[in-house]
Amino acid sequence: MQTYLVGGAVRDELLGLEVKDRDWVVVGATPEQMLTQGFTQVGSDFPVFLHPKTHEEYALARTERKQGHGYHGFSVYSAPDVTLEEDLMRRDLTINAMARSDAGELIDPFNGRKDLEARELRHVSLAFKEDPLRILRTARFAARFQPLGFGVCAETMELMRSMVAEGEVEHLVAERVWQEIQRALHENSPGTFFQVLRDCGALAVLIPELQPEPHFRAAINALQCVHASDGSTAERFAALFCALDEAASTKRTKALKAPNDCQQLTRLLAIFIPALKQLDSERPDADTLLGLLEKADLWRRPERFSLLLNAVECTLEPKNQRQLDILKCAADATQGVDPKALMEQGFLGKELGNAIQTVRLARITQAICSSTS
Ligand code: CTP
Repeated sequence: MQTYLVGGAVRDELLGLEVKDRDWVVVGATPEQMLTQGFTQVGSDFPVFLHPKTHEEYALARTERKQGHGYHGFSVYSAPDVTLEEDLMRRDLTINAMARSDAGELIDPFNGRKDLEARELRHVSLAFKEDPLRILRTARFAARFQPLGFGVCAETMELMRSMVAEGEVEHLVAERVWQEIQRALHENSPGTFFQVLRDCGALAVLIPELQPEPHFRAAINALQCVHASDGSTAERFAALFCALDEAASTKRTKALKAPNDCQQLTRLLAIFIPALKQLDSERPDADTLLGLLEKADLWRRPERFSLLLNAVECTLEPKNQRQLDILKCAADATQGVDPKALMEQGFLGKELGNAIQTVRLARITQAICSSTS
């Protein structure tokens, strides 16, 4: 039995990058032999084991054949006679299909190293077609390695286009799509992920609302800005939908099954952008500002409000930045209204709520008067 380092670890080491996870392939072993050596089995679909000391993943060499659509329907064959080359052949990209032996020899039957040097993301074989998630993975690797000069090669782009045309992307389950989007949002060049999806036609299936050029441009610019300020997943995600109205963005974020914080921030951004654009910067309306702050639930959710401000800042055109300053000024003015003091004055229940609102409104009025005079 032989073990080989495979996948991302070999790729990243050749690129001179820090290796985070190390995955291994074991050739010529049975599950029983692995268990006898103290490995523990994980995953029920195919034989993957954890090393007793390092806890790194060791997978028995396997081949995969697709049966049916989407991500399910794989038949896996794993036995001591499966060779390393057969295991490497089932992988997505040539740069991910290299191995290193215990003796340090590079095993590279699909010219991954050449593609690494040429900065090309290229599919290993037509088996790429068997897993439509690989379209998103390829777009994600393009987003990660864009600063190093990588791009998707013409043949792979063509293959991805044909997969989209055959309807393969429609079979992806939302949870897996979300996983890829979430990871892509934090890659080095997140906009590249969406550009590659657009080029191959997958964006029209996954987020059709971003197809029109102005919406796409606005999304990419806002995303780039949030990325530059090291924004959270929710800010990055919300930035994508900055050019859409509330109904359209809500529908899509639900369909994508994005987590609640992402959905909520997207919805708030869709409310705030048009409202701020309409706000008269010479004579801002205090009621409108208070209404917006209430919608954002500023006083109970101050952290979310600051994420919202960041996303708004990345989204509003420079000519509307004045409105954002007014909003910030109004928000600051409403801080520190003390319900206890109002209770001591005799306000209770609903009346207390009204009194708090009245004080906040008065403070906003005063603050915006002094800021716009
Ligand atoms: N792989 C694949 N098709 C998939 C998922 C994974 O071919 N749909 C293969 C690739 O060869 C990949 C390896 O399995 O290198 C391990 O997958 P993963 O850990 O997701 O990717 P890494 O390449 O290690 O990338 P990362 O740096 O993101 O961990």
